[in-house]
Amino acid sequence: MNAVRFQVADTVVVLTVEYPPVNALSAAVRAGLGQALAAARDDPAVAAVVIMGGGSTFIAGADITEFGTEKSKALPSLSDLQETLEAFPKPTVAAIHGTALGGGFELALTCHARVAAASAKVGLPEVNLGILPGAGGTQRPPRLVGAATAIDLITSGRHVGAAEACTLGMIDAVIDGLPDEAIAFARDLAARGELPQPVILRDDKVAGTDPEVFAAARRTTAKKARGKIAPMAVIDCIEAACTLPPAEGLAFETRKFRELYASDQRAALMHYFFAEREARRVPGLAAQPRTIRSAAVIGAGTMGGGIAMVFANAGIPVHLADISEEALARGLGTIRKNYETSVCRGSLAQDKADQALALISTATDYADFAQADIVVEAAFERMDIKRDIFTRLDAVMRPGAVLATNTSSLDIDEIAAATSRPGDVVGVHFFSPANVMKLQENIRGKLTSDETVATVMALGKTLGKNVVLARNCDGFIGNRMLQYYTGEAEFLLEQGATPEQIDRVAEQFGMPMGPIAMRDMSGLDVAMMVREARRATLPPGERFSPVVERLVERGRLGMKAGKGFYQYEGRNRRPDPETIEIIEQVSRDPGIERRNFTDEEIEFRLFAPLVNEGSKELEDGTAMRAGDIDVAWVNGYGFPAHKGGPMFWGEKVGLARIHEAAVEAAQRNGPRWGPGKVLERLAREGKGWADA
Ligand code: 3HC
Repeated sequence: MNAVRFQVADTVVVLTVEYPPVNALSAAVRAGLGQALAAARDDPAVAAVVIMGGGSTFIAGADITEFGTEKSKALPSLSDLQETLEAFPKPTVAAIHGTALGGGFELALTCHARVAAASAKVGLPEVNLGILPGAGGTQRPPRLVGAATAIDLITSGRHVGAAEACTLGMIDAVIDGLPDEAIAFARDLAARGELPQPVILRDDKVAGTDPEVFAAARRTTAKKARGKIAPMAVIDCIEAACTLPPAEGLAFETRKFRELYASDQRAALMHYFFAEREARRVPGLAAQPRTIRSAAVIGAGTMGGGIAMVFANAGIPVHLADISEEALARGLGTIRKNYETSVCRGSLAQDKADQALALISTATDYADFAQADIVVEAAFERMDIKRDIFTRLDAVMRPGAVLATNTSSLDIDEIAAATSRPGDVVGVHFFSPANVMKLQENIRGKLTSDETVATVMALGKTLGKNVVLARNCDGFIGNRMLQYYTGEAEFLLEQGATPEQIDRVAEQFGMPMGPIAMRDMSGLDVAMMVREARRATLPPGERFSPVVERLVERGRLGMKAGKGFYQYEGRNRRPDPETIEIIEQVSRDPGIERRNFTDEEIEFRLFAPLVNEGSKELEDGTAMRAGDIDVAWVNGYGFPAHKGGPMFWGEKVGLARIHEAAVEAAQRNGPRWGPGKVLERLAREGKGWADA
């Protein structure tokens, strides 16, 4: 089948790219466009050309699946097509619906004009893949919108709605009827006789750009991009667009694109892109998801309120339930404030906030939401409370409703056993703040039905979350690993590292907050409680560093007490000599030798145990794929996507090294830290997770 349909509407030719799912610029599409453009150019009866996408979208970019393959080198290249378009003797119009992203929008930028449906979005999201828009996407946009706006658009990779794109000058018109209005637009252009100047030759928006624009952008981007190299390269290219002649600017962009393409960050981000999509798939699951049109959330605290917002933001009416009217009023008040903040910040339009708020109603009686399609329990994290709630839900909820718990670590099977319908019970674990964090960790109990699993996996997409599916076990995918990261940070303290060094190394690595500061934020008393519960289930020989206990004894409960590992003024942390004294005492008691650590040692010691525990999750089926673990850690814990996630990082540093570290950790910390069988085998055979 030809990837480009050629249709004639009177004197205008409409070229429709038909290459599902997203009309990416594959070799087949490029060949189809090349042939069709040549035919349209050479036919004297053709006065103008419209290029559009078939199905639900325009062209979503270069074909990422062909990167690095022979197909990506097949001619015509994207830049060949762009040259053809820029030299085209008849008007060409890109008619955009759905999304015009990356190479798709870059192709449109070489047409004489761009028109878009009101619902369409355009953007250059390449930085999310660790590259930059390398088909003139850093050279042409500044010529339409100016350097400062181009920097904002391309370093963020954000999708811009048609109305804003038109105001900015990225497109020429917002139209109603596609393709008819686009055809009329093209015909009008042809009637004018004179072709608009190609974007690459316009310079009124770039000439004389103040160099401070670039200096300022470098300062803010260095902070915002936190170690990502692509956004900084984008600024270099946009500066080149403003200071060099077009051909030299384009050549500069090509060089930068190649550098980024060869980088580890590109490999990591592309791995992550596909992992995120793969994580939605459950091999062997044939059941159809149930439809979710209404929801209820039990518990109007921070978590429950956030989850109610998630449903409302997706347009799903939701009941927020709690035991008292006061609790509900408090919860609703917080939700209102959250929406107000978003509106003030400009990240949400007032009418969208109003629409979402109108979808949230309150209830103290379960009977009020008995007809809901799903109920998510987000009550206090105690088994007796959860079991009681599920027994009551079982009594009132309509048959077929999904009964979900937002527990972060409790046993799903024990909760399900409190009902007469364990097939409908499932874990749906959101991360705090639920309306912001992108992870939805679904947990399958022993008796959870395929239909329930299919429903909550599909629900993730509706809610705009990235989903992973975990098997029921202590801590599921993410929290099960977390204890090794924070635990190793405390062992490092005993051995001589300081809280500031550990946090600095983790934050330079790309974590939003270091493990020690994170402990302070969630509360050291809470950490102690969790640890005590865990200690009871552990075999002899397992060590916990007593540093948290010693700090709690001195009233250092964390940020909320103004002191924990650090001392605080508001949220600002400062090192505290008392903490160092306490840590030194903790080292002295059992005679642990203190020494200096390099930053590299600390980085490896912090992250290697995550990889080892991740390998054990693959071994016992807690996670289906290494990529799922990466998705969980990037979205739930802020692991930098440009490092690909912990499992990708582990494979990069070498599984043999990770294995060796686990053997050592077991000697130091206890047998639980020892290497898993899968890791042992892969390290021995020199293989990666694909062979797990
Ligand atoms: N190439 C190849 N496949 C792509 C693709 C692309 N550019 N973009 C998406 N796909 C595939 C996905 O892998 C997925 O495949 P699967 O069903 O087998 O998993 C399928 O299309 C649907 O994608 P989504 O599940 O993400 O569907 P959504 O509807 O949620 O989102 C989208 C659609 C907004 C287009 C989103 O897929 C997206 O953001 N894609 C990436 C766009 C992008 O980064 N473009 C730039 C590419 S690089 C480039 O153009 C270089 C140039 O500057 C030289």
